[in-house]
Amino acid sequence: MTYREKYSELKKIENKYINNTVIKAVLMDDGGFDDFTVLIKNFNEQLKDESKIDAQIKRILDGEPLQYVLGYAYFVNSNYFVNPDVLIPRQETEELAVATMSHIMKKYGRDAKITIADVGTGSGILAIYLKEYFPNSKVIATDISEKALEIAEKNAEKHNVSIDFRLGNMLDPISEKIDVLISNPPYIGSPETVDPQTLKYEPHLALFAEPKTKYYDEILSHLEKMNKNFFIAFEIGEDMEEILTEKLEKELPGIGYKFTKDIYGKVRFLYIMRENWKIYET
Ligand SMILES: C[S@@+](CC[C@H](N)C(=O)[O-])C[C@H]1O[C@@H](n2cnc3c(N)ncnc32)[C@H](O)[C@@H]1O
Repeated sequence: MTYREKYSELKKIENKYINNTVIKAVLMDDGGFDDFTVLIKNFNEQLKDESKIDAQIKRILDGEPLQYVLGYAYFVNSNYFVNPDVLIPRQETEELAVATMSHIMKKYGRDAKITIADVGTGSGILAIYLKEYFPNSKVIATDISEKALEIAEKNAEKHNVSIDFRLGNMLDPISEKIDVLISNPPYIGSPETVDPQTLKYEPHLALFAEPKTKYYDEILSHLEKMNKNFFIAFEIGEDMEEILTEKLEKELPGIGYKFTKDIYGKVRFLYIMRENWKIYET
């Protein structure tokens, strides 16, 4: 059977799990095509492994996320291994990565010789993305999940970067002074707010925090680990601006902070500096 014939067959079963993007991704995976235009050029060629495609489609129809079925996900135009031990990278997190990269670029330049910490690294996307931009920086990445760190290490190898991965709770494994800390910690308070597919397939260790501010509190109670002109970049839940503002005003009076919105207009990021909020403006 050709790619064209399989494409037509799969288009007929389109539903909430199988859409055009999914069909293209599965066919591109079969051919090892890294671009849609390559798939189009090969549309009249024979499939390599139709039974594998059918098995993948069955898993997707059962509700399994496409990225776990394929074993990889895209993050800022690059490809990373994922499996159910790690969260699937989200679009909001791409915004966090890019904003943090542009802050470091403005403040230190491409040659930045700084220490960056990615706390709760999961698949390693944030640590690897920043290390690729700033090869002279020292990047330390922690996670409490040994299995997540195995995937992160595979991703660092795939991207040919050297990251210092450390197993342990939040900042505990780090004794060095940190210049830039980036973190997308678990921040969901209650399972009712999570979509059923995420709840069923993604690691709960990556999702839930009780209370939901727990991991922000923990990091902010260890500012002694940060260098004087530190920068902290957090992804936050869309309902957390008020509670985090209260905490910052009460527990760290005078600190510089700024909340920003994601492309959907939701407040999703919190940036913190010790004082004189000037460098990062959007
Ligand atoms: C929301 S995921 C983020 C993963 C990745 N940084 C990303 O943005 O896709 C949170 C990560 O924090 C890790 N984690 C949970 N509790 C932790 C703890 N106490 N110390 C360190 N990491 C923790 C989870 O294993 C998970 O990989």
